[in-house]
Amino acid sequence: MKKTNLFMLIVPVLFVAMIVFVASCTKEGQQGPQGESGVQTCGQCHNFSEDVLARQIQYEASGHLNGGTFERNGSDCAPCHTSMGYREVLQTGEQETSAAISNPTPVNCFTCHNIHETYTSSDWQLRSTTPVAFRINDVVSDQGTANVCISCHQPMIPDPFPSPGTREDITITSPYWGPHHGPQGTMIAGTGGYEVGGGYSNSAHTNIENTCVKCHMAEAYGNQAGGHTWNMTYLYHGGDHLNIAGCTDCHTDPDALEAMVEDTAELIDGLLADLRTVLLTQGVLDSSDHVIPGTMSMDQAGGVFNYLFVLEDRSEGLHNTKYAKKLMENSIESLQ
Ligand code: HEC
Ligand code: HEC
Ligand code: HEC
Ligand code: HEC
Ligand code: HEC
Ligand code: HEC
Repeated sequence: MKKTNLFMLIVPVLFVAMIVFVASCTKEGQQGPQGESGVQTCGQCHNFSEDVLARQIQYEASGHLNGGTFERNGSDCAPCHTSMGYREVLQTGEQETSAAISNPTPVNCFTCHNIHETYTSSDWQLRSTTPVAFRINDVVSDQGTANVCISCHQPMIPDPFPSPGTREDITITSPYWGPHHGPQGTMIAGTGGYEVGGGYSNSAHTNIENTCVKCHMAEAYGNQAGGHTWNMTYLYHGGDHLNIAGCTDCHTDPDALEAMVEDTAELIDGLLADLRTVLLTQGVLDSSDHVIPGTMSMDQAGGVFNYLFVLEDRSEGLHNTKYAKKLMENSIESLQ
């Protein structure tokens, strides 16, 4: 942490030195037109204020930096697991990079912001705010500033693809089959699950403006939650607490909110356990939550898919309770 912080301070000093050096070199030639002072524009960010420092400190505690999956730099993984891969596919519109990314970096300031494009503070603008067409079904979703998140936080296309319309059996060859691994963007949008049966609807959270950003980047709690940590929970007096800073505009009573969160988690965890039992009993899921490769009915594959979809969403249904609940209820029913 110390290294980067020191660095943000050293840059302006170096820059002043550079300007002085350049100025002394140009003395012999003709005087060019007066440009904007580089020091001034660099200093819009590389200054002595603690605004940027705060974000760096938060980022340095984040899962984006510390999760340890940015070595997944192959052309099919790099678009979501490396910063350069993400930037490349934003330009090309492809789902894979043209080659593996060498010297990969994890999600960082340059990934989401246009850092060093105009060298002014307008580079804080987000790199992408355009709506995203989900890989899995081409449904287009507009989540405002969270569009920068959902091109990564969505499932990959599973092979083979489970579609509830067909009643044929399906043969799965890999134990890692499923809606790899961050389906949150699709979950919030209420799409992308194996929609057997009917009665699907969405919870109110589908319509939250800027979705992920509203809750995960709410007012920071130190470097534990909110802001550029993207975390939702922090430790206080040895207990785990939810950072509700992003919730209180809508949920004004914290006690009522806590009760709702508990009820929702209980409901969704209960359904996850029920669906898991069915899948284990029918011999299509193993005890470490991987599909058991082989030939199975479409609804069994769909059941595994929905189980992993809700499990790997990792919000215990909070992202979209109604959709998660219905996916699991209908899967259980289809397997009776
Ligand atoms: C929009 C804000 C912004 C402006 C304006 C800006 N920088 Fe940066 N700069 C950053 C950020 C953010 C980083 C990455 C810091 C980090 O990784 O924590 C960075 C990193 C750097 C680095 C480290 C090497 C690198 O690329 O990561 C250098 C050198 C640098 N800036 C020089 C400059 C100079 C010179 C200017 C003016 C010509 C300038 N910056 C203008 C935000 C800015
Ligand atoms: C370039 C792709 C990419 C973008 C853009 C991105 N993420 Fe992530 N995110 C990831 C990956 C990959 C991980 C898993 C990192 C790991 O474990 O190594 C992750 C992890 C996370 C985590 C969990 C960290 C943990 O502790 O388990 C949260 C929360 C998160 N991202 C939220 C967001 C939000 C909110 C945004 C938008 C503001 C966003 N992400 C943008 C790829 C991305
Ligand atoms: C569409 C974007 C996307 C692609 C493509 C992608 N991933 Fe991921 N992956 C993610 C996100 C987002 C997470 C983090 C999910 C979370 O923290 O909830 C993740 C998590 C992971 C994890 C941690 C999972 C866990 O359960 O701890 C591994 C390992 C991983 N990915 C490997 C890969 C590999 C290997 C590839 C290429 C075959 C790949 N990913 C391609 C988005 C992607
Ligand atoms: C995963 C995406 C993501 C990454 C990585 C990221 N940011 Fe941000 N940043 C955002 C979003 C989204 C916002 C807008 C938050 C809001 O609307 O409240 C933001 C806002 C900011 C702002 C306020 C900008 C303004 O216009 O006032 C600063 C400063 C900032 N980020 C600095 C950084 C720095 C420094 C880093 C690297 C250490 C970084 N960000 C990395 C997504 C990201
Ligand atoms: C209504 C608020 C809200 C919205 C909107 C939201 N989340 Fe969450 N998210 C949560 C809560 C609450 C949890 C569960 C935290 C816990 O109990 O650990 C969570 C959990 C997660 C996790 C598991 C890791 C963690 O931090 O616990 C990831 C990853 C994640 N969300 C990513 C996203 C992404 C990406 C989006 C946007 C597509 C998003 N979330 C939108 C509130 C939200
Ligand atoms: C933009 C407004 C808004 C924000 C922000 C918001 N919620 Fe909600 N939430 C609602 C509405 C509206 C409902 C549905 C009405 C009801 O049942 O009271 C709801 C319902 C819920 C439920 C019940 C399950 C469900 O989704 O139907 C839980 C739990 C919940 N919210 C938790 C949270 C948490 C935790 C946060 C912050 C991390 C949060 N909400 C942020 C508006 C919001």
